Amino acid sequence: MIDLRPLPKVELHLHLEGAAPPEFIRSLAARKKVDLSKIFDERGNYAYSDFPDFLRVYEAACTVLTNPQDFHDLTLAVLEQSASHNVLYSEAFLSPDFCGGGDLIAWRDYLAAMEAAAATAEAQVGITLRGCITCIRHFGPVQARQIARCAQETAGAFITGFGIAGDETQFHPREFAYAFDAAREAGLGLTAHAGEWGGPDSVRDALEHLRVSRIGHGVRAIEDDALVAHLAESGTVLEVCPGSNSALGLYPQIIAHPIDKLRRKGVLVTVSTDDPPFFHTDMTREYQGLANAFNWQDEDFAQINNTALNAAFCDAQTRTALC
Ligand code: ADE
Ligand code: ZN
Repeated sequence: MIDLRPLPKVELHLHLEGAAPPEFIRSLAARKKVDLSKIFDERGNYAYSDFPDFLRVYEAACTVLTNPQDFHDLTLAVLEQSASHNVLYSEAFLSPDFCGGGDLIAWRDYLAAMEAAAATAEAQVGITLRGCITCIRHFGPVQARQIARCAQETAGAFITGFGIAGDETQFHPREFAYAFDAAREAGLGLTAHAGEWGGPDSVRDALEHLRVSRIGHGVRAIEDDALVAHLAESGTVLEVCPGSNSALGLYPQIIAHPIDKLRRKGVLVTVSTDDPPFFHTDMTREYQGLANAFNWQDEDFAQINNTALNAAFCDAQTRTALC
């Protein structure tokens, strides 16, 4: 079997806090005297039973990330990890909600720390990071407007996108249209988590009301042929995270995952890890799983990475430098 680790990779869907190694969170918890023992299993891994429980554990882990230095250190650790799998370009979801609760002044300080860490990682291990500010659906539309304000005020060379994560079964996308309109006016690329815990209508609603060019996951579009045709025709890009879907029980076996079918039907798919330590994955494992299940070869991965680079929210100069 070929070693897929050295293959150059582009990742579009990675939650920064969700990429925190459990030992990183445990050491902060010990230092800050916070008891987080309940979110880890006996082997020290994150322990959760289903998607709502995953969100609870995720948010509990975030409670020990309390200052810009924590986010600096986290960013550096995550980028070193990604670079070790030869990820050359990464887009990470950054959450002002977990960086001072969405307060703009606090957010600027946290962002400066993350950007400094990204510059260090770029110089040391050659990975380029861009930030996609994300609001969190189950925190509601009022809070999302505040997060969009953080996005508007800090949009630029580093913050290039805006998105929505969290529980897609809560609230209707139309309630977030104002936040997405503000982000669009600020020149940000747009993406929305949909078609993970919601069916095809959830994807349709995100496209109609949020007018995004990318969908996070989107895999349940496979349940509706007309929607699949629309995704293919419109060139909507799916940020597919097979290991995440498998670990969270959506498609427990990779062979049953729809990524290959979607791709064969002309949908632009890309591959990402979502929250790697939660799902015991990394970019090499994702590629290896797809090679095993669907016999994907070097040229398939080259095409996937080309799609990802074209769909990236970075500027043209950054994209060209990566080609
Ligand atoms: N936040 C982090 N991971 C997520 C996922 N898989 N779905 C929705 N929100 C998330
Ligand atoms: Zn995600």
